[in-house]
Amino acid sequence: MDFDNKASVKIRAYDVLADGVTNRDSLFHTPTFSNQLGGIIDSRVMVLREFCDKERLLRFHSDYRSNKIRELIKDPSSAVLGYDPNLKIQIRLAGETTVHHQDNITKAAWEESQHISKKCYSVKDGSSKKVKNPSDYDFELKGLDVEEGYANFAVLKFNYCSMEFLYLQRSGHRRCKFEWSKNGVEKSFWLVP
Ligand SMILES: Cc1cc2nc3c(=O)[nH]c(=O)nc-3n(C[C@H](O)[C@H](O)[C@H](O)COP(=O)(O)O)c2cc1C
Repeated sequence: MDFDNKASVKIRAYDVLADGVTNRDSLFHTPTFSNQLGGIIDSRVMVLREFCDKERLLRFHSDYRSNKIRELIKDPSSAVLGYDPNLKIQIRLAGETTVHHQDNITKAAWEESQHISKKCYSVKDGSSKKVKNPSDYDFELKGLDVEEGYANFAVLKFNYCSMEFLYLQRSGHRRCKFEWSKNGVEKSFWLVP
C-alpha cells in the first residue's frame, strides 16, 4: 500500500469504509456520529449500514423520536469519525445529514433490516426520555408486532464534503485531506500530521 500517493490513500479509505458496512470486527462498523444539539456538539456510536463512494454517502438508522433527529432537521451539519488501531487508520468526515421518515428510502431500508434490529423501534416512548425504572423499557417480544416499529424508524443519509485520512507509522505518519465543492470538484492536499 502506497501511503505517499493521494489516489492510493483515497482507495484505501474507501476500502476501509466499505468493509465497515459488513465486517462486524472492523471498528469502522460502529463509527462516531456527531451533530449539534442546541449549539453543543453531541456524539454517539452508530452502526454503519451503507457506504457509497460515488454519492459520498454513509447511511445510518435511528429512532425518529430521538433528539438528534429533531436537531438534524433544523441543522444538518454533522461529522463522522472512526479509528481502527489494528489498521492504524483514522478517518474524519464532515458534511450534512438528510433525515428520512416513512418514505421510499425508509421502506427499502426497513425491508432489508433484520428482525432483531427492527424490534428496537417498538420500544415505547422513544429514545432519550427520562425514566424512573429502566427495566420498564426492556424488549417485550411476546405479542409484539415488530412491524409497528416502522412508524419510529428513520434513515440518516450523511453526505460528506471533506474526508481526512490519517495513517500512523513509526517512520512518519501520513495525513491527507480531500475536499469536494458543491458541484463535486475534488481538491486534495497533504497535512502535517
Ligand atoms: C455498538 C453500538 C451501536 C449503536 N448503533 C446505533 C444505531 O445504529 N443507531 C442509533 O440511533 N443508535 C445506536 N447506538 C446508540 C447510540 O450510541 C445512542 O446511545 C442513541 O442513539 C441515543 O443517542 P441520542 O440521544 O444522541 O439520540 C449504538 C450504540 C452502540 C454502543
